[in-house]
Amino acid sequence: MVTEASATSDASARAAPELAVILPTFNERANLPIVTARIAQALAGIDWEIVIVDDNSPDGTGEEANRIAAQDRRIRCIHRIGRRGLAGACIEGMLATPAKYVAVMDADLQHDEALLARMLATLRDGKADLAVASRFAEGAVQAGLSANRDRASRFSIAVVNRFLKVDLTDPMSGFFMLERRTVEELAPSLSTQGFKILLDIVATARGRLRVAEFPFTFGQRQHGDSKLDSRVALDFAQLLLAKFTDDAVSFRFVLFCIVGLSGVGVHMAVLAGLHDFTAWRFDVTQAVATVIAIAWNFVFNNAFTYRDQRLTGWRYLRGLVSFEVICAIGAISNVGIASLIYGQQGAWWLAGLSGALMGAVWNYTVSAAFVWRAR
Ligand code: GDD
Ligand code: MN
Repeated sequence: MVTEASATSDASARAAPELAVILPTFNERANLPIVTARIAQALAGIDWEIVIVDDNSPDGTGEEANRIAAQDRRIRCIHRIGRRGLAGACIEGMLATPAKYVAVMDADLQHDEALLARMLATLRDGKADLAVASRFAEGAVQAGLSANRDRASRFSIAVVNRFLKVDLTDPMSGFFMLERRTVEELAPSLSTQGFKILLDIVATARGRLRVAEFPFTFGQRQHGDSKLDSRVALDFAQLLLAKFTDDAVSFRFVLFCIVGLSGVGVHMAVLAGLHDFTAWRFDVTQAVATVIAIAWNFVFNNAFTYRDQRLTGWRYLRGLVSFEVICAIGAISNVGIASLIYGQQGAWWLAGLSGALMGAVWNYTVSAAFVWRAR
């Protein structure tokens, strides 16, 4: 008979490792064997495991992870299908291990794995609750940051420290270590979107974590591309908004509305142009302006609002057509609702606003489900 006691007294049973290193990956196939081998070497004498969290990378990182894991049971991979996002990947990885300590590290060789053992020693000694590898602490060097990126980083750090009352030299570092227990406590309040997982952890803990910083040299990326460069600013605005409104306002919806407002401008410009330069009937010009404005909204929503799940090629065309249809229905319901409210209430601005909001919510929710549905 198999009992719980016999399961744990089994000689082949092994206790949980002390440290889990979480490696989020998106298109890191060439880097993965190198980084895992380097970590294994750097952690000699420590009981560790590596949890790779791959978001179904098109370059086959997932298969590469399985190949590596097949040779070493200390290494395993979580395969996330239909989802993207660095923060979410890190959180899932950290919650998927029984290890006492968890570290998050980039898989692209830009982080110095030699720091792991020192970070662990500091946490073990109880000298800190959170160990952060900092690109900007005294003594650190940034080989892998372009001048612009360096400036952008320093600027955002100043903003962060001010507004979120955080005091870190590198709150956006993607390389840190803490007790898993702490992550479990904070996890329900963390944003799964964006890159700023460390900042989110520190801001959510509201000063409860004692931080030790480790200056290090941010290396050059060897293979593949950074997924971050063009996103820093957006990502940032997103976290600030989430933290200030306690996640009540969806950043996507805000972006969607901003794009929609710009679409109104385009609509009016096209309308004015057609009115001045053609002899078309008004309803025809209005229809043409509407189709163009919706196309404009599609292009910008695809580039910004849904930058993490951008449609390309054939899907782009299909998305454009369905977005036109959805927004056309949204426009009809907008007019319907507005007329209804106008008939009952008589306040033109209330009717107009309700119609517009209704249309925006419709366009947003329906396009989220049918145009940019997670693949
Ligand atoms: N699973 C998963 N999903 N992994 C991802 C995703 C994603 O959507 N996006 C990026 N990654 C992985 C990459 O494969 C890499 O291992 C790591 O996360 C960092 O991504 P990079 O694209 O290399 O980011 P970076 O080098 O430009 O940015 C660095 O600096 C940022 C702060 O300025 C990183 O250290 C970031 O973690 C850090 O926030
Ligand atoms: Mn990188």
